[in-house]
Amino acid sequence: MPQINRQFVLASRPQGAVTPENFRLVETPLAPLADGEVRVRNHYLSLDPYMRGRMNDSKSYAPPQPLDEVMIGGTVGEVVESKNEKFAVGDKVVAMFGWQEYGTSNGTGIQKVDDTHVPLSAYLGPVGMPGVTAWYGLNRIIAPKAGETVVVSAASGAVGSVVGQLAKEAGARAVGIAGGQQKCRYVVETLGFDACIDYKAGNLYQDLKAATPDGVDGCFENVGGEVLDATLARMNPFGRIALCGYIAGYDGQPLPLKHPSLILTQRLLVQGFIVSEHMDVWPEALKQLGTLVAQKKLHYRESIAQGLDAAPEAFIGLLKGKNFGKQLVRLI
Ligand SMILES: NC(=O)c1ccc[n+]([C@@H]2O[C@H](COP(=O)([O-])OP(=O)(O)OC[C@H]3O[C@@H](n4cnc5c(N)ncnc54)[C@H](OP(=O)(O)O)[C@@H]3O)[C@@H](O)[C@H]2O)c1
Repeated sequence: MPQINRQFVLASRPQGAVTPENFRLVETPLAPLADGEVRVRNHYLSLDPYMRGRMNDSKSYAPPQPLDEVMIGGTVGEVVESKNEKFAVGDKVVAMFGWQEYGTSNGTGIQKVDDTHVPLSAYLGPVGMPGVTAWYGLNRIIAPKAGETVVVSAASGAVGSVVGQLAKEAGARAVGIAGGQQKCRYVVETLGFDACIDYKAGNLYQDLKAATPDGVDGCFENVGGEVLDATLARMNPFGRIALCGYIAGYDGQPLPLKHPSLILTQRLLVQGFIVSEHMDVWPEALKQLGTLVAQKKLHYRESIAQGLDAAPEAFIGLLKGKNFGKQLVRLI
């Protein structure tokens, strides 16, 4: 059994864009397990946009990531040592151990998962927090009816890819917005959206208008700024906007809306939400998402960086759209 745990801590808070210097790699001795404890070898770390917000020391829905402590993050891994009767060596678990190779728990905050039909990494993607986020925003806020049009931004990503596929399941027309032709092709050809607009092509509003001839009834917003502006201008009366993310503004730049009066004139519902505040829906959502993935009816893609050392650059890339699908770090 190794004696050393490698970890990334937050070394400093970013001023604008995140840099590698904001993180520090540390090596910490692994203490022997106490009675009731479990040791997990993490196989995958999830990198998520919310981590950018936690790096700031500012008012938000969650407290900031403390300096010099292990960066927060979802993980999946395998129990390698156990002094807790509820967990056996070899059990696969999902946890929030953060940016480190090993995690130790007293049995709380870790959950066994079955990787027989669902790959372990999917518990950090479509059958995990991003999947439930898609499920909640689509079903509980947008609630699309058959024949309605739903637009989702960051459509090839962990959340967006699930939103469009669930919208199609509900009989709606799904239109994605993504950066680049390759991502857009994937969104239509593999994920089965009806259309996808490349916002980098320079004709966002006109392209979106052409792809939404009947207007837009549901907007699942992941990006903000000009992307949200374009969809807002296409909203039908009584449309619903699930405000899930604002990634274009996470480095602190203000992103004013051009036409907020449309919220009034189109009588829109705009609802922000944080998925961790809706734990009541997780069992139902995970059951449905797990079944769809096991049956290969829900498609997803992963961007996998190799080794803990690669985590900072992969995270910086995620915030610039370099990932193509769910961003993970393989730790073994
Ligand atoms: N409310 C909640 O509870 C909750 C939970 C999970 C996630 N979220 C939010 O959901 C959104 C998607 O998260 P995810 O995990 O699925 O990430 P993701 O879509 O897998 O990756 C982020 C994507 O955002 C796009 N992007 C990045 N920087 C951008 C920029 N400056 N301008 C425009 N687009 C940019 C890129 O796609 P393109 O190349 O296509 O631009 C990038 O691939 C994020 O805003 C996240 O914060 C919210």
